[in-house]
Amino acid sequence: MIPTSPPTPIPLRVGVLASGRGSNVQAILDAIAGGRLAATVSVVISDVVGAFALERARRAGVPAACIDPKGFSGKQGYERALAEALRAHGVELVALAGYMRVCGPELLAAFPGRILNIHPSLLPSFPGLHVQRQAIEHGVRFSGCTVHFVDAGVDTGPIVAQAVVPVLDEDTEETLAARILRQEHRVYPHAIRLFAEGRLRLQGRRVLVDAAAPGAGDHALIQPPLPA
Ligand code: GRF
Repeated sequence: MIPTSPPTPIPLRVGVLASGRGSNVQAILDAIAGGRLAATVSVVISDVVGAFALERARRAGVPAACIDPKGFSGKQGYERALAEALRAHGVELVALAGYMRVCGPELLAAFPGRILNIHPSLLPSFPGLHVQRQAIEHGVRFSGCTVHFVDAGVDTGPIVAQAVVPVLDEDTEETLAARILRQEHRVYPHAIRLFAEGRLRLQGRRVLVDAAAPGAGDHALIQPPLPA
């Protein structure tokens, strides 16, 4: 995999894969509608019949399709159909947004270095499922979300962008998830924009951002906060 983002003609054609409620799909659609992201969502595809993400796409006038893995004898056939559908819509970048399946070789080979995912933890901490609960039980002071390129592992690919939120003593899985989700909706369109503008470059497993913002100086997040 060479996950870099060559300059693509604007607007970038994005295909979104989602399994559930689709709030990240909505955030991407809203960023485009609001002029904050020069891209087009060409298609939203779900592996789950009736996923609300599909309804969100339809409401935005975006083609929506369900490809049910049950209709295929194995993962390879399912992913081949997925890749064909994405290609048929001219997709250049695949954005996984709450897509609850691990990408197999078929999909990875169809879009090398062109699949992003958003995950609700500060990777490499807490990959996989139920990660907000894991973060609370572990006692970390910060969690957040990560946008990363997808490779053959589970939440292991090169990191594009992260947002950090505090974990509070009174947090439940739900309150922490909601705090993280608000940042997901900011950081995912931002990461897609960096890709669309051809500003991402891979060095080893580090993703370098061309013309990145100036250094952070002494800025730090400290939790519990220092006294004023
Ligand atoms: C998000 O927390 C995302 O990070 C994770 O699954 C959740 C999907 O939420 N991969 P939504 O369907 O986008 O609302």
